[in-house]
Amino acid sequence: MDNLKVLDLFAGGGGFSTGFLAAKHSNINYELAGALEVDPDACLTLISHHGEDKVIDGDITDPIKKEEVIKRCSNVDVIIGGPPCQTFSLAGPARSGKKEIREKLREDPRNMLYSHFFDLVGKIKPSFVVFENVEGMASKKAESTDLSNKQRAVIDLVCEDLKDLGYNTEVTPTVETGLAAEYQVLNSADYGVPQYRRRIIIIANRIGIANPIPEKTHGDGRRPHLTVKDAIGHLPVRLPKINPHGIPHLKNMNVILDNYKKSLKLFKDAINETVKEDPAFNSFLKWFNRECRRLSTVKENHFDELKKFFLIYNMKLEEVEQTFIDLPSSTSHTSRMHNFRDIIIFILTKPGSNSARFINKNRKEDYSKLLSDLYPYARDKHKDTYVKHSWDKPSYTILAHMEKDGLKFIHPEQPRTYTPYEASLIQSFPGDFTFSGGRNAQYRQIGNAVPPKMAEAIGNSILNALHENNTDLLINETYERV
Ligand SMILES: C[S@@+](CC[C@H](N)C(=O)[O-])C[C@H]1O[C@@H](n2cnc3c(N)ncnc32)[C@H](O)[C@@H]1O
Repeated sequence: MDNLKVLDLFAGGGGFSTGFLAAKHSNINYELAGALEVDPDACLTLISHHGEDKVIDGDITDPIKKEEVIKRCSNVDVIIGGPPCQTFSLAGPARSGKKEIREKLREDPRNMLYSHFFDLVGKIKPSFVVFENVEGMASKKAESTDLSNKQRAVIDLVCEDLKDLGYNTEVTPTVETGLAAEYQVLNSADYGVPQYRRRIIIIANRIGIANPIPEKTHGDGRRPHLTVKDAIGHLPVRLPKINPHGIPHLKNMNVILDNYKKSLKLFKDAINETVKEDPAFNSFLKWFNRECRRLSTVKENHFDELKKFFLIYNMKLEEVEQTFIDLPSSTSHTSRMHNFRDIIIFILTKPGSNSARFINKNRKEDYSKLLSDLYPYARDKHKDTYVKHSWDKPSYTILAHMEKDGLKFIHPEQPRTYTPYEASLIQSFPGDFTFSGGRNAQYRQIGNAVPPKMAEAIGNSILNALHENNTDLLINETYERV
């Protein structure tokens, strides 16, 4: 029997398709027919994993690209995809209190990108469609020029579009909710992903079977949720580079100066604690400890002294990093650069805590005067700017925002934020999966991805449903498309 052919739209670095390609039932699995993506780095990632002939690099709104997709993928069984979610995201600018930002979002073409997805679904008519998006999509109201659609939730319009195309979107009542619904909200932690990530999933079909509900494997009486430690606890340690520039202008550096010796000691102890068991850092540590001792006796020109120190520290660290051959993906397992104030904040924050707590005097467990004084952002918003993860829980949701900064992703033990490699393992990418592009492009692809393990569960649920319904798996040959 043939495998089921998949078309991945808005494919990113390929999290969704990677999971589908891992799914299997009775020797039937999926094969990638095509992946459409506009981001050049993500396209290179897709090419390196699937070959050039599978990747259609371009804009879904471009009629020529659409034609190409239809020509190359007219016989697919499943279309999967998740249009960009920034404007639906509960974490994103859609929450902005600023009117001009909200107005801008209304004009954002990303809101309407999903209609191009359905345009292709309508032309190709696969047996199954799997649509993924952020939970915020359920509360997002449509900003349609068609007044009858205004104020309708985007998710309802999405389901209606699918129904108009002949798809059943309904999910049968679950034992848990007892309710019928048009979409499911899955939490990736329940599918063996070491991360809390709630996402809307619509599984729709036009072959007359009940839409499957992917079976949870973890949590709530099943196997325990996987933790950050399960995902990255085994990795070799890494140190942050330190930004040597603009030190005098960094907000709240006066607090560091007021606590100069204490800050240096915190830093020295944290670095020693992190790398003390890794012999690769032996000679680095000797130099580092000597310099820290000298620096702590400095009486003037502190900022200049720190700048010189950070410059040499970075060079020495780079020398050590060049010797790393400890992982196949060593280059994506190096830390980004942080400023010294943030590093002190990382060190002082307790695992599992965040800035909303450490600036709050009422939270006795977490409050710290020094941390509160160091906190550089407005206190009436962005309170959870810094989040330190715990070893013994699933990670908080990995976001594409990591390409801008990683402050919500502070490592539980090491004074830095997650490396791209750590973020990819937390997203459940296979350990030997590589991403093209620089560090930020990698964070973007990783943060955007559907966790492969969750995608695999969705893929398996469809294969199981076909099996249970005795549906001929060669759907695209036996089922009328038009
Ligand atoms: C949420 S990500 C999808 C991630 C992907 N499903 C995965 O699992 O890795 C959305 C993707 O849509 C891409 N995209 C945005 N606008 C696009 C357009 N007009 N045409 C094609 N792709 C687009 C973005 O570059 C981004 O990679």
